[in-house]
Amino acid sequence: MSNIPPKKAQGNFSEVEGEYCVRDINLADEGQLLIEWAESRMPVLMGLRKKYSETKPFKGYIIAGCLHVTKETAVLIKTLKDAGAEVLWSGCNPLSTNDAVAAALAKDGIKIYAWYGNMEDFYWCIERTIDGKPHLTLDDGCDLIDTVHEKYKDLAVNHIVGGSEETTTGVHRLRSREAAGQLLYPVYAVNDAETKWDFDNVYGTGQSTLDGIIRATSVLLAGKNFVTAGHGHCGSGVAKRAKGMGANTIITEVKATAAIKATLEGHEVMTMDEAAKVGDVFCTATGVKDVIRKWHFESMRDGAIVCNTGHYDAEINIPELEEISVSKRTIRPNCEEYTLKNGNRIYLLAQGRLINLAAAEGHPSEVMDMSFANQFMAHLSLVERHKSGEKMPIAVMEIPEDQDEFVAKTKLEAMSMNIDTLTQEQIDYINDYNAGT
Ligand code: ADE
Repeated sequence: MSNIPPKKAQGNFSEVEGEYCVRDINLADEGQLLIEWAESRMPVLMGLRKKYSETKPFKGYIIAGCLHVTKETAVLIKTLKDAGAEVLWSGCNPLSTNDAVAAALAKDGIKIYAWYGNMEDFYWCIERTIDGKPHLTLDDGCDLIDTVHEKYKDLAVNHIVGGSEETTTGVHRLRSREAAGQLLYPVYAVNDAETKWDFDNVYGTGQSTLDGIIRATSVLLAGKNFVTAGHGHCGSGVAKRAKGMGANTIITEVKATAAIKATLEGHEVMTMDEAAKVGDVFCTATGVKDVIRKWHFESMRDGAIVCNTGHYDAEINIPELEEISVSKRTIRPNCEEYTLKNGNRIYLLAQGRLINLAAAEGHPSEVMDMSFANQFMAHLSLVERHKSGEKMPIAVMEIPEDQDEFVAKTKLEAMSMNIDTLTQEQIDYINDYNAGT
């Protein structure tokens, strides 16, 4: 008798105990084509695959990952596998798994537990990857790390070598855990690498968020009042692209410097109370909860579209929207119409979950190339430091500058672009405290 607890979801799944649980293994060929498409656009990661598939530095190491199951993630997983790792995987959001990609990975021997629409078995899937006794954890949003820390403490203390975290929200959670003295193993903050946040968070989120909104609604953005809550890296990317499509862009912020930046970039800045009255499309990108509340919905125009691109679905207060609604119906995939007591209709996209992955395909491969090259190298560093016998600090660790530099240079080369080099005289000039007018 197996001692694995049963999952809650009923219905048809392709499942082999201890191996995988995906929606439909017959989608594997379709998934394989998507993966090949992504591979052709991820030269940095593919270069690492070529290099390390020969030496197999991960041989003997088991990696558990909890990150969106997309074609780009598949390229990372296959690269880790070719470099010698045994890989187990779960999705990090109920609505972001591409079932075809998950099937292709399962067929390729990855122990994967993920399917689109996984609401009730989210943690069940994570725990199946922990069953594999990983030496390394790779997170996006910290749910795997949290589960290991809360439920598998012995594994965290005595077995796990280290981990990595992909996203801003996850790094915040990690730093809180570290500050509370509750972090049990070292974790690289991949999000904070310049070749990650400066591209993925800005241009990746910018394009994929608009892609998700358009796929879910097909509305014209030109001429619309497009409200972005939050003008950090992600929010600024969204606003930049919305403006580029001809929308009148409005920003809401809590940070004065970010608000000034938004104004100087040509956006209008106001509070959410003010924006709620004039916005046509709303997109939250803040990382905090309750950004759009009951009274905001009540003052919105008839037909307002509301969505979120932050990691968690807490930014839009959906229970309050339900409370003030008299009816709800699905209009089209990822688009639900709420009719309020005041008669107005609000369209909520993707149940308030990240629109770019739930309704579109997430960030494009070209951008994820750099993010995932950083993930691969962070894990390579953990393994090399472990093999050398180094006692790593139990801390949230920054990505070393030379790694960032390597990823940027390799990407630039792949893009066939040349840049200038400082002459020795220019270097001396920069370093000369006496050089003045
Ligand atoms: N996060 C945002 N976009 C992504 C993608 N394409 N793959 C994995 N994680 C992502």
